[in-house]
Amino acid sequence: MLQLKSVDLKKETVETLIIPVCEDKEIHQEKTIEALVKKAQALEEFKGSAKDGVTFYSPAGTKVTRATILGLGKLEKVDPEALRSMAGEAVKDAIKKGFAQVYIAVPTAKSVGLEMALILEALGEGAVLSNHLFSRYKKDEKLKPLKKIFLLTDAATVKGHSKSCTRIETICRGTLLAREWVNIPPNDKPPMQFAKAITLAAAKQNLKITVLDEKALKQKKFGAMLAVAAGSRNKPCLMVMEYRPRGAKKTIALVGKGVTFDSGGINLKPSGSLDTMKSDMSGAAAVAATLITLAKLKPKINVVGLLPIVENMPSGTAARPGDIVQSYAGKTIEIGNTDAEGRLILIDAIAYAIKTYKPETLIDLATLTGACIVALGEKIAGIFSFDDKLAETIIASGKKTYERCWRLPLPEDYKEELKSDFADLKNIGSTRWGGAITAALFIGGFAENTPWAHIDIAGPSYRKKESAYSGAGATGFGVRLLCDMIEKL
Ligand code: BES
Ligand code: ZN
Ligand code: ZN
Repeated sequence: MLQLKSVDLKKETVETLIIPVCEDKEIHQEKTIEALVKKAQALEEFKGSAKDGVTFYSPAGTKVTRATILGLGKLEKVDPEALRSMAGEAVKDAIKKGFAQVYIAVPTAKSVGLEMALILEALGEGAVLSNHLFSRYKKDEKLKPLKKIFLLTDAATVKGHSKSCTRIETICRGTLLAREWVNIPPNDKPPMQFAKAITLAAAKQNLKITVLDEKALKQKKFGAMLAVAAGSRNKPCLMVMEYRPRGAKKTIALVGKGVTFDSGGINLKPSGSLDTMKSDMSGAAAVAATLITLAKLKPKINVVGLLPIVENMPSGTAARPGDIVQSYAGKTIEIGNTDAEGRLILIDAIAYAIKTYKPETLIDLATLTGACIVALGEKIAGIFSFDDKLAETIIASGKKTYERCWRLPLPEDYKEELKSDFADLKNIGSTRWGGAITAALFIGGFAENTPWAHIDIAGPSYRKKESAYSGAGATGFGVRLLCDMIEKL
């Protein structure tokens, strides 16, 4: 769908051409494009500031049907994210207008002061990520994603970056896959059905997939996870996805929280907090989509994805506040609050991951706490790790992909908060302060000596409103981040 192309605009027909421009610098070199930009700049109403736009229809001397000159603002503001957003908005607009394809003119690397690979990646990502509609539940949806997106550049760039589009598209498709799963309503993704959907999506890839069903979980004593699942008629499962390329030495484990609906359980959430809780499996969705993507990218490292999948519901069979359960690792846990269920399923999956796969590194991804959203807002994930190098690697990938991560501390003395009078541990702190930290400390206690990082994605995994390159709802946060990071490990 995404393709680099070099076209003579005077000779070949191009229906829709988008030309990004700066307010204070020329960023294109191709003569026809330069002429169109000049024509726009001569207009009173066009300044080139961000979101400024003007369209010329069938401009003379070209075979372009419509050329839209889009402002990016001042050159100093042009970074990969500005390009990603511009491409995203342009593609969304093209979809709304019913076009089947679009050309985006690529600025020259020298003029914007960025490497060409970065420019192409940003434009490609914004375009592909926007080219998606979650319409499977809309009977009358007329809009359709574009069939083709061309990045218009010179012949040398097309030649020099021939493989980049496939790679960009592969990674973005992973993000879109995660978005699809998260947006699916909770009645259509009870745990076993969600696991089946993942198995189906992974079918063509070289991945080993195992699903531990309820019976196996009982047999192996996943006590914490089973307690969370106890209130739902829908049975839980632990899904394991293994990517093992030949010659790989290191193993990394990725654990993703997969609560298909979090009602809070007996500690029922208030009504305003319930309607987005289908997204409480965003961690699992991101991990599953990452494994499918890695199987296509083929980095030389073993990656095991573990997805504890449950539904958290209140009922006569649900776990109660005050219940004490024994986790897979053997520790007893007093359930202080049934809404702090994510950490219960994660510790069982983490303990199982360490025992079974002995990974060099373990990373968990979870929509874990509202407290993390209070701390960092809706766009930035919290990251926690005792390992500075691992934390820095993740943060660097966050900068690169603009899936931003901010490190929060793991103070030893806050562990006091998790003491229980009756069991080894309690699943909530004694106060609500620092809730993202106490949650992370709870999980960290089960990582033993394995270098571990926890990414709290409660904020950035889901947005009620659409943004530049994501529709309303799921964002697919984590897939681009993890893919970038794993290739660097
Ligand atoms: N799934 C929620 C966290 C969440 C909140 C995700 C908002 C996305 C948006 C989690 O299971 C939860 O309920 N956490 C509680 C913990 C508390 C009971 C200690 C919270 O954050 O309030
Ligand atoms: Zn909860
Ligand atoms: Zn939850």
